Amino acid sequence: MHSLRWSPFSWHDFPVTQVPHYHDGLALQKVLSTIRQYPPLVFVGEVEALKKQLADATYGKRFVLQGGDCAESFRDCKAEVISAKLKILLQMATVLCYGLQKPVVCIGRMAGQYSKPRSVDFEWVNGQQLPVFRGESINSIDPTLFGRTPDPFRLLTCYHSSAMTLNFIRSLATGGFADFHHPEQWELGIFRETPHYKMYQALTKNIARAVGFMTSLGAMTQDARRMTVFTSHEGLHLNLEEALTHFVSERGQYYNLGAHMLWIGDRTRQLDGAHAEYFRGIANPIGIKIGPSANPEEILALIGMLNPENEAGRITLITRLGTENVSDCLPPLIQSIRKAKRIVLWSCDPMHGNSFKAKDGIKTRKFSDILSEMMESVRIHQDQGSFLGGVHFEMTGEAVTECLGGLVNLGEKDLVKNYTSFCDPRLNYHQSLEVAFTLSSLFQENWV
Ligand code: PEP
Ligand code: CO
Repeated sequence: MHSLRWSPFSWHDFPVTQVPHYHDGLALQKVLSTIRQYPPLVFVGEVEALKKQLADATYGKRFVLQGGDCAESFRDCKAEVISAKLKILLQMATVLCYGLQKPVVCIGRMAGQYSKPRSVDFEWVNGQQLPVFRGESINSIDPTLFGRTPDPFRLLTCYHSSAMTLNFIRSLATGGFADFHHPEQWELGIFRETPHYKMYQALTKNIARAVGFMTSLGAMTQDARRMTVFTSHEGLHLNLEEALTHFVSERGQYYNLGAHMLWIGDRTRQLDGAHAEYFRGIANPIGIKIGPSANPEEILALIGMLNPENEAGRITLITRLGTENVSDCLPPLIQSIRKAKRIVLWSCDPMHGNSFKAKDGIKTRKFSDILSEMMESVRIHQDQGSFLGGVHFEMTGEAVTECLGGLVNLGEKDLVKNYTSFCDPRLNYHQSLEVAFTLSSLFQENWV
């Protein structure tokens, strides 16, 4: 049972899953105490600002776009990779803002998404049984026993890479990374042969005109030009999260200042588990991933524990049910939340319930399944008198070949061409843009 007393380390008294075991406990403690003394990565005022914006989204006044890598990698802590990710996020946000006619809250799966939950502990590689890769904060993707052994010093690289990524995001966002103001320069050429090209072109022209109009009106102040990009990651590696937790005396509360928002994964959301215990004590906005195995009572109990005051903006339910399950699983969830009068923001992650292995064993997802779960979720919410207030994607700004289909029409034979994800398959630049165009068109009938 979770008692009234909470501390950043009270989770140690609960059964924990997915957290690595380190051979050298002393080295782990040294690393954690170093991280504890490092400056926070984010400021508490920003965390509260996000919570307020999520509260707005809960009431339909904003829409949330959350996206980024499945697993960030240290190797990708580079200017061109980070700016490509930011560029596609901002372009999608611009399309959604225009289509939905409301401000979009941009949250990156960035600057800290380095720990991964896994379904199995071991895998066979070239006849050798090895511990699985658990994210670069924990072990290496190299398929050797040495590489796969958890190394506490990786947590320092994780902190440093998060700090460098966040620093670069901040300078791009405040320093006039104005790409989104020039939709006429977006890379739409690849859609030229498709029936949607004219519509996309007309839409981007309209967006450019709207931005131009706003600018000439002077309505677009210096502040409006700055895009805020918040950061988020799965709060999985509790030793690390504990070290990133600070007591903020002005507010009389603990915050995880390693990211603005954290989410609790579908594999670690057990009511009596260590993750639920940790999450209940931090004041950040929290996401809860909900897979098809969840039953509405346990989700209600979890929400009751994590948000006893029923504060708006605190809980985002991120359903990831799979296109085959969404029509069975989503309505009862919506109904039970409504009946219990719980205030939540509904978001849809159409990625994690739609993964499968292609013929040659490569993990992939079909673009059509991703679109279909997303559209179905919009429709089900409408039917139930609720609404979808956000979306959550695994995506990147680069031309990777990880998900099948889309107007760019990637086939199974293309998967090997540029598959660089360390974990799950991501939407590439054009697939991400196509998702945004499609979602916007759902909400906007007389679009162009
Ligand atoms: C993820 O978001 O990468 C993830 C592992 O999600 P889930 O907890 O929904 O499986
Ligand atoms: Co993933």
